[in-house]
Amino acid sequence: MPESSRTPILKAENVTKRFHQVVANDAVSFDVMPGEIHCLLGENGAGKSTLAECLYGFLRPDSGRIFFEDKPVDVNSPAEAIKLGIGMVHQHFVLVNNLSVLENVIVGTDSAGFVLDLRQAEEKLSALCHRYNLELDLKAQIWQLPVGQQQWVEILKALYLDAKLLILDEPTAVLTPQESQALFATLRQMTAEGISVILITHKFNEVMQSDRVTILRKGKKVDTVDTNSTSKQELTSMMVGREISLTVDKPAADFGETVLEVEGLSALDDRAHMALRNVSFSVRRGEILGIAGVAGNGQKELLETIIGVRPSTSGSIRLSGEDVTDSDPQAMLANGVGHIPDDRLAAGLIGSFTIAENLVLGSHRDPRFSAHSFLNFEGIASFGKQSIADFEIVAPSHQTIVDTLSGGNAQKVIVAREFEQSTTCILANQPSRGLDVGVIQYMHRRLLEKRSDGFGILLASEELEELFNLADRIAVMFKGEIRSILPVGDTNIEEVGLLMAGHEASGTAPVH
Ligand SMILES: Nc1ncnc2c1ncn2[C@@H]1O[C@H](COP(=O)(O)OP(=O)(O)OP(=O)(O)O)[C@@H](O)[C@H]1O
Ligand SMILES: [Mg+2]
Repeated sequence: MPESSRTPILKAENVTKRFHQVVANDAVSFDVMPGEIHCLLGENGAGKSTLAECLYGFLRPDSGRIFFEDKPVDVNSPAEAIKLGIGMVHQHFVLVNNLSVLENVIVGTDSAGFVLDLRQAEEKLSALCHRYNLELDLKAQIWQLPVGQQQWVEILKALYLDAKLLILDEPTAVLTPQESQALFATLRQMTAEGISVILITHKFNEVMQSDRVTILRKGKKVDTVDTNSTSKQELTSMMVGREISLTVDKPAADFGETVLEVEGLSALDDRAHMALRNVSFSVRRGEILGIAGVAGNGQKELLETIIGVRPSTSGSIRLSGEDVTDSDPQAMLANGVGHIPDDRLAAGLIGSFTIAENLVLGSHRDPRFSAHSFLNFEGIASFGKQSIADFEIVAPSHQTIVDTLSGGNAQKVIVAREFEQSTTCILANQPSRGLDVGVIQYMHRRLLEKRSDGFGILLASEELEELFNLADRIAVMFKGEIRSILPVGDTNIEEVGLLMAGHEASGTAPVH
């Protein structure tokens, strides 16, 4: 527990950082105590990642001072931050895919020109894994590991360098609930040993496990509060600057004919393992079929196979009665099927293009955006401006390059585009990942509007609350199979949770 008599390990004083006309951090001051988990909370684009990157020397603040262990410091580069004992895991991983875990951890640590003693490094790393109960194959190449384990490699890299302060920028955005629980247990072990953590997250169940929270709004600090003397509702209104309702009203269902029919579908994952086994279901117009499951149980492969970016090995897909099995993605787009993938960087955006350009990717032949094979720049611009307003995308204009957007704002560009381009179905995988609470509310409202407009919607999510609020039926996926499809009214969170963990529908022993 932080005590005012103790010296903070880190203190930021009036840190200001501008990007041209954007003031990402506006005279922000806060401090972090030894052994504390300190959350930075704020809407998408509030300046959390920027502040973290200033502390880590990745960005240079325009003004302000930073104190580390009571001494003023000038952190000019990550190398200097590391020397002080500051480690950081970025919002987007920076691991080298075709190097091993061990190589990734020691890469860049050789600055003094020593010949690396790999064996010694391996011993230190194994000891760390042992200490924190991590099972990690140090010889495996990064691409062979599930994302949850890649996250651990990032953290190990910081610990290997003896970090006293660990900055984690949305570490759990890509973790399953179980992995995020394990991460918290380990973080608590670290803080008990005196390590401090700055944690950036949008998930309130994680925020509530911290010691203190500093809230940022539009680049300015609102306040720092003790976690156990605040609530989700209070934090939300400090973040957003107004009261927002945290519930959604779901209109009564009005189902039409079947729009999407999947029968006996199977497919392989990227490592050529069976990822989808004999999956069958159908979705009607006006229906949201929720897909519950811990990430990595075939949801990604299911959506990718339907949309045509992954070949099926057997089975069929019909759209409005027509066989579209293994159609190409362009054809599926022309059929009005939108896709929100779970990995926004790998699939979905071209970073060097503007927001407006990304919004019309794939639909540039739409009459609103082109005529007689010329692009209609006015149409593209006005659609860009409209989407920025609707989704509250934080950016100076529709001509802003997507690479300069905050993580959550990049996600909004994909959601806006896919909502707009689709006319029959929306397939969404973890669409609210990395979005702030206000935008999630907006997206939920829009999904329900699409449902009322007669779309068939497939919504894969690990957030059971989200599924129970939105879906009409819930299909539970486990190890590539659909274990059960249940109307929401006939089930509950506990039952679905058990099915997700591999228990049989009766709720008895897990199935292997
Ligand atoms: N390199 C850059 N060039 C221009 N603008 C930038 C750059 N990096 C960040 N910004 C802008 O600074 C503001 C703050 O962004 P930041 O990434 O710090 O937000 P965030 O709080 O981390 O949001 P999120 O929750 O979406 O990750 C945003 O308006 C963003 O577009
Ligand atoms: Mg961020």
